[in-house]
Amino acid sequence: MAAQAVSVGTALGAREWSGLRPADPFKAAPAAARADTQIGVSKKGRVVQMTISVEKKQFTTKKSEETFAAAKELMPGGVNSPVRAFKSVGGQPIVFDRVKGSKAWDIDGNQYVDYVGSWGPAIVGACDEQVNEELIRTLQKGTSFGAPCVLENVLAQMVIDAVPSIEMVRFVNSGTEACMGMLRLARAYTGREKILKFEGCYHGHADSFLVKAGSGVATLGLPDSPGVPSSSTASTLTAAYNDLEAVKEIFAKYKGQIAAVVLEPVVGNAGFIVPRQEFLQGLRDLTKEDGACLVFDEVMTGFRISYGGAQQHFGITPDITTLGKIIGGGLPVGAYGGKREIMQMVAPAGPMYQAGTLSGNPLAMTAGIHTLRRLQQPGAYEHLDRVTGKLVQGILQAGRDAGHEICGGHISGMFGFFFCAGPVHNFEDAKKSDTAKFAAFFRGMLERGVYLAPSQFEAGFTSLAHSDEDIEFTIAAAKDVLKSL
Ligand SMILES: Cc1ncc(COP(=O)(O)O)c(C=O)c1O
Repeated sequence: MAAQAVSVGTALGAREWSGLRPADPFKAAPAAARADTQIGVSKKGRVVQMTISVEKKQFTTKKSEETFAAAKELMPGGVNSPVRAFKSVGGQPIVFDRVKGSKAWDIDGNQYVDYVGSWGPAIVGACDEQVNEELIRTLQKGTSFGAPCVLENVLAQMVIDAVPSIEMVRFVNSGTEACMGMLRLARAYTGREKILKFEGCYHGHADSFLVKAGSGVATLGLPDSPGVPSSSTASTLTAAYNDLEAVKEIFAKYKGQIAAVVLEPVVGNAGFIVPRQEFLQGLRDLTKEDGACLVFDEVMTGFRISYGGAQQHFGITPDITTLGKIIGGGLPVGAYGGKREIMQMVAPAGPMYQAGTLSGNPLAMTAGIHTLRRLQQPGAYEHLDRVTGKLVQGILQAGRDAGHEICGGHISGMFGFFFCAGPVHNFEDAKKSDTAKFAAFFRGMLERGVYLAPSQFEAGFTSLAHSDEDIEFTIAAAKDVLKSL
């Protein structure tokens, strides 16, 4: 059936500025039964809200294209975060209308099995009923107090109970903010300035970390960002991931000067790359010996690789950990935590200043608490591991059967694959992937109803809502696309 075109746009179109008429989310009819929503057109004739198709059979992205064309006039590159713009895979991004469980729908009415999950937070499935119900209850008491609330204690206790390295925690509003706080803390605690990070690892967009960062920086081929003063990165040392010898040399050269070694304990921002156990152990030993902090940036891997994060999975306990994504259950959140002795440096307990108007707000705390509660249910991580393993094996097999060089892997609900023979141990290896082939694969999958991360240098995510049926559908689509490449 063609898109139902019950457009309120006609009623609004003639007005100078129609504005938006957001539906009351709590009174709205179930998404699938809803008639199309409205259009809004700005003074300059730009589409600021689009008629949304709710049912269709043919893959068309006309409405997404129109909306994105308008967005490009309103926001740099049409987006509020670079990788969303599909630059590395070509074509235009699709514009989302709604998400539920393992699925996403765009404004043209196309349905996708979603392996992005809002870049990680949607681990229990998108738009989860239980989490939503709790959010509504909290919402009715106010969205932000700027004062202590009990929910902060609840989530803090849950994080402390779960993550081996965390004895105290500070909540912030994003992963970037968590990494900024963590860096200041490591420097304050050690009285040193230098940090060591790894090529292809992303720790948010703060100045000091925008050196050989992966993710969008890699995707866009930007070596560094203009606007970052050289003084901000002068203290940032880099090494190849999984290269313990290089780290040893750096420690020998800068003995007693390194505040922190910061890494993604499983890389997700250069594609999916697994650490060698001896690499993690070596970093733990070297930092301990030198008096530097070992920091695991678990913004992506926290509560995903296991309930206690990558540190629990690999049995290596860092000094400081950063978190984000999942602990906010889809609302903006971040956190850094570690040993009590280190965290007591943070204001107002100690002299290291860091603050935030919306930090620890009741909404984000609620979404985090109820997301973690769902993850505590027996079988949660077994499910993630099983469906993700089946997915990756299916895609790799389909690739090999079609004669492509392909390698990849997964841990729990995080996965990735590269179009090269592999193995991939670091960013240099990852860059050997045939990115043009990835782009063609990505577009083919999109057309067949599978939404993958729009970059070779990003990991994929599954959720508790991903079913065997979703995985089989995805593998069938992959077989079809890979045969055609
Ligand atoms: C490992 C890691 N650290 C930090 C960040 C930054 O988090 P945010 O995008 O919430 O600022 C990300 C984002 O993807 C990340 O993957």
